[in-house]
Amino acid sequence: MAGLNIYSMNTLANELNTLLDGTVVGRLLSDLGRRLYFPKGIIAQGAEAKKFAPAKNGTIGMAFHNGEPLILSAIAEGMPTLSAKEAVTYAPTAGIEEVRKAWKEAIAQKNPSIKPDSISLPAVVPGLSAGISYTADLFFGPGATLIASDPCWDNYSLIFEDRRDAKIRLVPFLGNGPGLDLDAIGKAVREEAKTGSVRIILNFPNNPAGYSPTRAEADTLVNLIRETAEGGADVMVICDDAYFGLFFEDDIYRESLFGRLSVLHERVLAIKIDGPTKEDFAWGLRTAFVTFGCPGLKPEHYDALGKKLMGTIRSSVSCSNTPAQYLLIKSLADPRSAGEKKANFELLRGRYRAVKDFLQKNPNHPKLTPMPFNSGYFMSFRCKGIDAEALRKRLLSDCAIGTIALGAEIFRVAFSPLEEEQIPEIFGTIYKTAAEM
Ligand SMILES: Cc1ncc(COP(=O)(O)O)c(C=O)c1O
Repeated sequence: MAGLNIYSMNTLANELNTLLDGTVVGRLLSDLGRRLYFPKGIIAQGAEAKKFAPAKNGTIGMAFHNGEPLILSAIAEGMPTLSAKEAVTYAPTAGIEEVRKAWKEAIAQKNPSIKPDSISLPAVVPGLSAGISYTADLFFGPGATLIASDPCWDNYSLIFEDRRDAKIRLVPFLGNGPGLDLDAIGKAVREEAKTGSVRIILNFPNNPAGYSPTRAEADTLVNLIRETAEGGADVMVICDDAYFGLFFEDDIYRESLFGRLSVLHERVLAIKIDGPTKEDFAWGLRTAFVTFGCPGLKPEHYDALGKKLMGTIRSSVSCSNTPAQYLLIKSLADPRSAGEKKANFELLRGRYRAVKDFLQKNPNHPKLTPMPFNSGYFMSFRCKGIDAEALRKRLLSDCAIGTIALGAEIFRVAFSPLEEEQIPEIFGTIYKTAAEM
């Protein structure tokens, strides 16, 4: 479209626009249509690995055992038992009341600092990605800045920058030390506060690095947000809790920061985006929740904000998938789920420990430096003197090992889909290949 600043646009979007210009599509695309593209990031690289590295696929954020995805019994058995009502009726725009209440109860149980009366009723959205995108619809546009970790999940850029035309201020949340670079985070927050408002996304356990704050780091983050609000700035903290609960070390803060942030200060709006996607091994159910918490908001405010959220849902997908919500009701109520989740947790912790064990036995690689990790599905290396994409391609073509390159410097391995026994060999091959490059 004439007048659009093409220099702010993603290169891939520009390539597509160039292809389409001169056609009826090129002439009719909206500004948003021109900005959209399909990233060559995690999804595209994952598709390559599925084809060329089916047995050693460390790309995707799912968890497998003996070649099958992990699944809770209540969900597996529930599939054919759904009644007609549970299978095909429309769900309300913000979700079925029963699942919203059950999820609220579940998050309060997992996070004792949540005060259920002080937060909204979680609204159902079709996956965490949608929850983040709807949050962006409500609160982000040109001129808004979001502080995010560098590196962060690659979809944030597509959602906040390309879709909403907002700016992401990337801050290396993990510096060269063993944990969070709290000085860097504090500096960015204080600088943004000078504009009158701060928007930050906290994703713990983090994708791609697999890091969660220790108790001391969590205290510092909460204090930072409190001081910023007391200083007069409005603060929005989005908690992307996709990998909540997969905490593999004892010193990790065991709750979502949403709990404490949701009762912190009337200038602090905490938004929790979570769901069964990773927590309950139900990636394809496409069900997640958006929950708001702020001591300055009364029930009538939550109601108004909830209606705005419903506006974004109604105007995009209209409502979320009904069968998935009934399956989640069944699995939240099923007495087997807790034990099965614990067993899956142990399986993933075994894989995490195998990676730690390999790294301990093979310290000081000349080209790959592991970033701090203690939780979640992934770990990442910073690359020195080699290109992460070149390493990924070499591993895929020569060794049938699937990994993810995030730009030239970050190389991510998902240990969640790998069997524990495969880990020494796969990491050994990664180290050897990188050393030879
Ligand atoms: C950090 C993070 N947030 C959100 C999501 C998206 O979750 P969903 O599949 O529910 O959209 C992912 C998935 O990979 C993720 O890594």
